[in-house]
Amino acid sequence: MIKIGRILVSLEMREVYLEGQLLQLGSRAFDILELLIRAAGKTVTKDEILRHVWPNSVVEENNIHVQLSALRRIFGAGSQVIRTISGRGYRLMMPVVEVDDSVGARDMATTARARPSRSSGLPLCYTPLIGRDDAIADLSGALKATPIVTLLGPGGIGKTQLGIAVAKSIAAASDWEVCFITLASVNDAQSVVETVAQALGVSHTGSVVPLDCLFDAVRGRKLLVLLDNCEHVIESAATICELLVQASAELRILATSREPLRTYDERFYWVTPLETPDEGASSQAILACGSVRMFVAQMNALNTPVQNDRGSLEMVATICRRLDGLPLALELAASRAAIFGIRKLVAELDDRFQSLTGGRRTAPPRQQTLEAALDWSYRLLSDTERVVLHRLGVFQARFSLDAACEIAACGRMTHNDITEAIVGLASKCFLMTTFDSRTKEYFLLESMREYALLKLYGSDEADEVLARKANYMAPAYEQPYGRIFGADTPVGKYSMESAASR
Ligand SMILES: Nc1ncnc2c1ncn2[C@@H]1O[C@H](COP(=O)(O)OP(=O)(O)OP(=O)(O)O)[C@@H](O)[C@H]1O
Ligand SMILES: [Mg+2]
Repeated sequence: MIKIGRILVSLEMREVYLEGQLLQLGSRAFDILELLIRAAGKTVTKDEILRHVWPNSVVEENNIHVQLSALRRIFGAGSQVIRTISGRGYRLMMPVVEVDDSVGARDMATTARARPSRSSGLPLCYTPLIGRDDAIADLSGALKATPIVTLLGPGGIGKTQLGIAVAKSIAAASDWEVCFITLASVNDAQSVVETVAQALGVSHTGSVVPLDCLFDAVRGRKLLVLLDNCEHVIESAATICELLVQASAELRILATSREPLRTYDERFYWVTPLETPDEGASSQAILACGSVRMFVAQMNALNTPVQNDRGSLEMVATICRRLDGLPLALELAASRAAIFGIRKLVAELDDRFQSLTGGRRTAPPRQQTLEAALDWSYRLLSDTERVVLHRLGVFQARFSLDAACEIAACGRMTHNDITEAIVGLASKCFLMTTFDSRTKEYFLLESMREYALLKLYGSDEADEVLARKANYMAPAYEQPYGRIFGADTPVGKYSMESAASR
């Protein structure tokens, strides 16, 4: 709980109290208050407010004034708690004091409720979300009809950010409550249940949370739960999701995971990389691509804007293409380029795991480096899946299942083992699949391929696999890269699937 003068603020519950009374404050005004609190007395610029509060739309500056008037009213008319810094932004003038939750609870005893409020604990997004407007609309629509929707994709593709944006958009447009639960630091079934129970406001006395208490907590509530990072506790997460939606017809779960939950009534949404420019694209086309817009925005934020000449834009296009339009990789690349320049970054792409290491200090460890992002998923593979992945690293383009079996079937591994491993690798987002031909084909994103090769070269079977490739690789095995997320494969069709179709 946070105290500012006589006002008590719960960032987690997104509630504001004055002398025990819950005050009415719209979600946008609250977003601005949250920014001001987190800025700890520094000026928050108008740009920061626009990016945070209206991430997906262009709005007039006077919208900020409207929200600020609402915010100033809660501190008392004429108070100078929020000062306008002329031409720059706004600053909180009173100290922000953290108070013990029990003090906060006593102060607001008359209105305290066990349940989270409309958008409980949604993390702040510091950068505007690029290229996801359609996805937000698709997902908001899908959640009206489907109890569980899972956002799938490799590490750093933007599942969490997209999930937050969808949750925000639903909370803003309806009377649904939103509850954010992250499982990132949870490792066993018991802790999954406890974390979910705590977030839902369930209080219990024994050491084990009775499931009935969980069911009671969700029954009769229009509630969207954003359950983040399910992959490493996938079975427990799947079980709890299924039980909860069975307990309440009005509950919706938006899960994020690097692997499907595979529950009853689940729909998958494969989060696609940001669009990347084609080779030889015009400068205008380069600048219009989502990945380029993201890279350029990151460089601007780091005070090292990209020059607008043709040579610079081509280098940026190469960076975005070779990093597969993966937002985390682009973020790491921008922080590298801000120090050494984009020319050097292009030269370093062959050695990306050495250079893409400068993640935000506040990012979770698995997002501090590109290698860490891949390690997190690699740890969740079976031994066979790992070995097959290493071997598939020799494919530079898309390949069929038959070709994979030919190349990867060394040692005692049978075709059946390899097929199973490929299915596992595809569902765990290491392998991408195409849908634009009669036969399903597979390919590795460039960063995955580099990672697989790194592991292959670190093993004692590199020579044998390369020799098999040399022997068996006929032109028919390898097709040029398809535009996997391109015009021939509608994104909606590609990315939204029901469990039954897998
Ligand atoms: N569409 C986007 N526009 C701008 N930045 C983005 C976008 N998507 C993701 N990012 C940035 O990329 C980084 C990774 O995103 P995010 O944490 O959502 O990935 P994730 O898929 O949830 O990864 P993980 O599997 O590790 O949880 C974040 O720092 C985020 O701000
Ligand atoms: Mg995430």
